[in-house]
Amino acid sequence: MLRRTLLKAAAGTVLIGASARMAFADYPKMKQKSSYKAGFAQSESNNPWRLAETASMKAEAQKVGWQLVYTDAASSAAKEVSDVNSLIAQGVDIIFLVPREERPLIPAVMAARRAGIPLILIDRAVDPKLAKPGVDYLTFIGSNFVQEGQRVAEWLVKTTNGQAKIIELEGSVGASPANDRKKGFDEVIKQHPGMTILASQSGDFVRDTGRQVAQTLLQAHPDATAIYAHNDEMALGAIAALEAAGKKPGKDVIVCSIDGEKDALQAIIDGKLGATCECSPRFGPIAFETAMRYAKGETIPPQIINKDRFFDASNAKENLDSAF
Ligand code: AHR
Repeated sequence: MLRRTLLKAAAGTVLIGASARMAFADYPKMKQKSSYKAGFAQSESNNPWRLAETASMKAEAQKVGWQLVYTDAASSAAKEVSDVNSLIAQGVDIIFLVPREERPLIPAVMAARRAGIPLILIDRAVDPKLAKPGVDYLTFIGSNFVQEGQRVAEWLVKTTNGQAKIIELEGSVGASPANDRKKGFDEVIKQHPGMTILASQSGDFVRDTGRQVAQTLLQAHPDATAIYAHNDEMALGAIAALEAAGKKPGKDVIVCSIDGEKDALQAIIDGKLGATCECSPRFGPIAFETAMRYAKGETIPPQIINKDRFFDASNAKENLDSAF
């Protein structure tokens, strides 16, 4: 009986291993060439993070001597799908895609798969229930967004001795960093009875939207003692809203966020922002290195996760000049 169970388990293991291997084996390959034409489908260009990401991709393409066809979806998932279709029609060898939202970009991923063009997800993910690495796309390269939310929450718990009334400014609705940064942060906060999330609303990762949402939420919750923003731009908007309301950011209300952009590090130095977890936008080197390894026939892991730093009053100054 035991032997039969073990044999079954062993057979299952082999089958799972074989199907996983077959998935990668079936995924579209890149031809051996001296240079390639890559497509880069950017989601939008509305903040310093996006601009830094695009600059990094363009600089690396130039460095390695690849042609880069660049598209900007201007914050529209529908346009981004049609941008990917246009890259396919232009016969690119590989596509780097920043999926603005987790679900609406699935048709773009599937279109590249059907066309036999390898596609790498850069920075944002798609819904894992609807598309899989090595099957529908090659790999995901980016940060661990859940961990970013957790790290900021842990900092806030420590800084406030576990006592805070929090306003949360979420990123773009349906975007993987918004979903995961909320998950990571909220999970940690729930474990501390003295920490409450008073309200949580999207500011679309945009500074002025963050400012307007913070203004409304501060009026509804004048007792708030902390603001957690899913990115620095919204945190900077929230700081402006606090000042307009006659409150002192960093004293009356603690503000914390994610990204590590230059203005945020300056706000830490000025005592207005408490901390920011880094989310590096410098994807060029790792994106092109991964594509080159794949072109050479190497096996690529399903996920490549960036290592991110954490900035607060202890190290903001020494990192200011190198920030984006
Ligand atoms: O996907 C990464 C996030 O998107 C960055 O935190 C944010 O600034 C950007 O818009």
